[in-house]
Amino acid sequence: MSRASGSTSRDHARRALLADLAAGRTVSDLAFDRLYPERIRKLSNRYWTPVHVARHAAFLFAKHGARRVLDIGAGMGKFCAIAAITTDVEFSGVEQREHLVTAGREVVATYAIPRVTLIHGTLDDVDFDAYDGFYLFNPFEEGTFAPSQWVDRTIPLSEERASGDVARVEAALARARRGTCVVTFHGFGGAIPKGFVHLPEETRGVPFLRLWVKD
Ligand SMILES: C[S@@+](CC[C@H](N)C(=O)[O-])C[C@H]1O[C@@H](n2cnc3c(N)ncnc32)[C@H](O)[C@@H]1O
Repeated sequence: MSRASGSTSRDHARRALLADLAAGRTVSDLAFDRLYPERIRKLSNRYWTPVHVARHAAFLFAKHGARRVLDIGAGMGKFCAIAAITTDVEFSGVEQREHLVTAGREVVATYAIPRVTLIHGTLDDVDFDAYDGFYLFNPFEEGTFAPSQWVDRTIPLSEERASGDVARVEAALARARRGTCVVTFHGFGGAIPKGFVHLPEETRGVPFLRLWVKD
């Protein structure tokens, strides 16, 4: 097989996979993660939301009326891409590591995934008021790990920075409007402020996933 026909059949397989996702058919993490370069895929087990979890979280945002959701610490945008393909909600993700944002934007552009925006930046670059939904897959915990466990060393991490970020999210959620939805996967290292109602029945069967809606 020539190199050109190899890449054409790979592209065809990737488009078929995204169509399967949109149609509600089962897609494995192994298959989905092939959209991204090897160095990013190999972090998947620990750092990126599994496909079935992203799909369920996206369904909950849509069901509870969120229209603009921010993934705080978006990585290469795996959650955003799956969530946008499987709902009609808009998903943005803020991510501090530029190379992840670049890889994620390339996938979004190549496969014309609608309603996804990946922002290169930190919490300083986020207008929390612009969103009515927030997704957090324990983004700040990495700062509490030994450097050998980090995604990479492109960003200075520390426990102090992690606890500052947790406090900023708590404060932003405390100010959030009525109806704001928060979905966490493995928590975010902080407490959901008073005024949010936890809906455990909505995440039953999906371990470590939690939903709150502001009253
Ligand atoms: C556990 S991964 C989750 C990625 C993605 N949300 C998902 O579910 O697939 C956490 C990501 O958050 C990013 N992150 C952590 N703290 C951040 C901050 N303060 N600002 C922007 N990104 C941050 C990390 O670089 C990492 O890519």
